Amino acid sequence: MNFQANGAIVLFMKKTDFFITFEGPEGAGKSTQAQRLQRYFAERGIACVLTREPGGTPLAEELRKLLKGFEGGEKITPVTELLLINAARNQHMHNVILPALAAGKVVLCDRFSDSTVAYQGYGRDFDLEVVRKVNALGSAGRSPDLTFLIDLDYASSCSRTSQREETRGEFDRFEAEKKGFHDRVRQGYLAIARSEQLRMKVIDGNRCADEVFADILEEIHEHCQL
Ligand code: TMP
Repeated sequence: MNFQANGAIVLFMKKTDFFITFEGPEGAGKSTQAQRLQRYFAERGIACVLTREPGGTPLAEELRKLLKGFEGGEKITPVTELLLINAARNQHMHNVILPALAAGKVVLCDRFSDSTVAYQGYGRDFDLEVVRKVNALGSAGRSPDLTFLIDLDYASSCSRTSQREETRGEFDRFEAEKKGFHDRVRQGYLAIARSEQLRMKVIDGNRCADEVFADILEEIHEHCQL
């Protein structure tokens, strides 16, 4: 509580409704880092929701399964892919993300609309303006306050996903794409980071998880006075 010169009492509400997203190529370690940050907040009593895209609600998780592994003998077109991702996103926004932010919680999201610009826009070579407009519809106009782009080169990404492949038994539709696709995705991410330097922080993902997390915490302390 603070007092103005005229004696009026002004309540300064601390901002706690931070929307923080994790982005990056396959195998970059986003999920591990998002989980670490969730633990870090929980240990300090900061209310926090960890969620992911595509997914985060029952319907959006069903759409995720279709997007990652549809096997109905029919190719998913780029337009359908873009729309399904944003249909999932709109469910997620209205049912999980916006209510959590409105309750003053921190929301940590493993992938969000930058993935769509990188994968559908750059990766699938889809008109970037159209992707951004559909994203705006899907995300109900809400952008992240802070985004970590955990950057990783193609060779390291492949070696990490092939290790995962052994445990899971197969690549999903996106992981199975060729090098050219994944190179465009990475270049797309780096282009977003260049144009939005305040929001998107590039973190070198080609290091151990502790080093990556130390960089993330440094940015958190600089940008979020929690
Ligand atoms: P992941 O959560 O295991 O990374 O899987 C999600 C996959 O979905 C990943 O390969 C990237 C892809 N994806 C898109 O292509 N566009 C999007 O907008 C999102 C959120 C994910």
